[in-house]
Formats: sequence, C-alpha cells, structure tokens
Amino acid sequence: MRTTTRTLLEMKARGERFATLTAYDAVTARLAEAVGVPLVLVGDSLGMVVQGQETTIPVTLNDMVYHTSIVSRCTEHAMVVADLPFMTYATPERAIDSATRCLQDGGAQAIKLEGGLAMVPTIQRLTAAGIPVMGHIGLTPQSVHQLGGFKVQGKSLDDARRLLEDAAAIEQAGAFSIVLECVPAALAQRITAELTIPTIGIGAGPGCDAQIQVTHDLLGWFSDFSPKHARRYEELGSRAAEALEAYVSDVTSGSFPGKENSYTIDPSVLEQLEKGPE
Ligand code: KIV
Repeated sequence: MRTTTRTLLEMKARGERFATLTAYDAVTARLAEAVGVPLVLVGDSLGMVVQGQETTIPVTLNDMVYHTSIVSRCTEHAMVVADLPFMTYATPERAIDSATRCLQDGGAQAIKLEGGLAMVPTIQRLTAAGIPVMGHIGLTPQSVHQLGGFKVQGKSLDDARRLLEDAAAIEQAGAFSIVLECVPAALAQRITAELTIPTIGIGAGPGCDAQIQVTHDLLGWFSDFSPKHARRYEELGSRAAEALEAYVSDVTSGSFPGKENSYTIDPSVLEQLEKGPE
C-alpha cells in the first residue's frame, strides 16, 4: 500500500517530520524506496540532472510521463508525485489533460505545479476531478526568466506577504501539500504554522513539516554544482570518476578482463577447431 494524502495530513497533525527525495530512474527510485521515504517526486529538475539542460523549461510532458512510469514501476510504498512541466498547465483544461497522462500512463498518484494565487482555479479543477495536487511557491524554477535567476524569494515585506497569501490560497483551493523553495527560514516557519497541509521545504529552513532535496545533490554527483541548501552526504561524482579511471587503466595495461571475468570452453572443442573442418 502506498502513502496516501491522508497519511501525510495525519503526519502534519501529529507534528511528525518527514524526508522526501526526487527520483527519475530505476536507481534513484529503488534507493528512495529502500530508505523508506513516504513520497518521491519525479521533479522536472530531471532537465538539469538527467538531460544536462540549464533550466527545467525544455522538459516535455512525454519526458515526465516516461520517467514517472519508471519510478512508479520501481517503487511500492512511496507516493509518486509527477511535476507538470512548463506550460502544460497554462489553462485548467490543459492541466487536466497533462495530469491525466501522468496518472494513467505514468502511474503517479499526484501531480505538482508551480505558482500561487493564479493557480487557484487550476488546483480547484484538478482536485474536483480527484487528482491530488502539490503546490510549489517561492523560487519557482519554471519562472526563472521572470524572476531574474535562481534567487531566494520573499525577503521584502511585499514579497513575504504575497507568499503567505499564496500559501493560504493554495491550501484553500484543495492542495494536499506545498513545496516552499528558497524562502527565508523564519517566513517558511510562519507559513508552516498557518497551514494544515504539510509544507515541504527546499532551502526553506528546518521549520517546515518535511524536506525535499534533489537526490543527486545529496550524493555529490556533480562537482560544479553544490547548492547552499543541500548537504553533500557523499562524493559519488569523484568516486565514480576514480573507479572508471581504474577501469580504463586496467584495460590499457591488460589486467582487465581477468580469468574471473572470462568464460571457458571445453578444450576438446578447441582441439577440433584446430584440426579444421571434418
Ligand atoms: O523539480 C524538482 O525536483 C523540484 C524540487 C526541487 C522541489 O521541484
């Protein structure tokens, strides 16, 4: 049985903090499942992490459905949430079509979309149709060009007020949780106290109900990218490079493959081969 929206709301009511992760493929999905997180997000961060893009904007609905179907197949207990990519929820009708694909073809249990007050009619339409919605405010990467870069949001009085209003409106519209990305910790704590749905922070301090991180950032896959809000628990990028350098060196020196990596053949077959055709 997978985690349900009700489970997450009950955790919030009990004051139980939880960790969540992004997953994009069989490896990350199985890891997330193995460590028992209640929810995995198939984030459109896959644009950067998997596709090598500079932003999430080029990610398509087909990309999301493809990766979501892998993550759904490779998890059993975690709720799978699929990000709706850029412009695929520009109208409530488009959102319904896009979310339907994520649930029917991708096997997700919920979708996430970015935006505040303006998203209220869309969230209402989706939840009325029985599709659970996770909101996402603060730094919303699909609006990076409008925001003028990947910057902390909500630092001025006006912006802080706007984020409080956005969060309340998203809860009212029926969302079951909300991501707060790159929001000052004290503001995120205030939003968390005002909502009955769980807040899931990334760069939003310890006062949120839950945390989410891009799995690759936690594992240190990239040497050139290390966001302030992520703690590197491993250095897999440099360790993997060292391992592959050793492989290259073993091949060039002739020490790989060894006997233990090779298959045998009955010597009598070889003898027959030597003799040539019968
Ligand atoms: O795309 C993503 O991975 C996200 C999380 C960082 C919240 O939106």
